[in-house]
Amino acid sequence: MVCLGNICRSPLAEGILKSKLPKDKFYIDSAGTSNYHIGDLPDNRSIKIAKEFDIDITNQRGRQFSTNDFDKFDIIYAMDNSNFKNIIRLARNSEDEQKVKLIMNEIYKNQNFDVPDPYTGGIEGFKNVFMMLDEACDIIAKKLLPI
Ligand code: 4NP
Repeated sequence: MVCLGNICRSPLAEGILKSKLPKDKFYIDSAGTSNYHIGDLPDNRSIKIAKEFDIDITNQRGRQFSTNDFDKFDIIYAMDNSNFKNIIRLARNSEDEQKVKLIMNEIYKNQNFDVPDPYTGGIEGFKNVFMMLDEACDIIAKKLLPI
């Protein structure tokens, strides 16, 4: 799960998807394309919204996406088009590129919608992001569960 800062959207996506899949079968993590928040806790507003839905994300710390993530993960979900492009720029070959998907395309196929960056807005934006990610992660979990 990849966004810009790895403190608002992708920590929520990580926490939500983890809550829907068995821990022993799936390795799920998040990262940011920027280096702005390396080592930081998720944003307080993400922590609060997740907690309202019984998801604890306070174990997470910001980290920056790097090329070796292409070796560690089978699927890389970008939260928006800008981060999608930033991830693709780091790809070494078409195999890397094919791992990168826009998360909202799981709901709205080929529409290329963004999960909006809630950082500069209020708590409502975080609730909206949570709902969008919960719906997308439901679809992702149902697709992956037979594994
Ligand atoms: P995120 O939100 O990409 O969903 O974690 C942001 C967090 C921090 C910044 C931008 C977006 N920032 O500019 O510091």
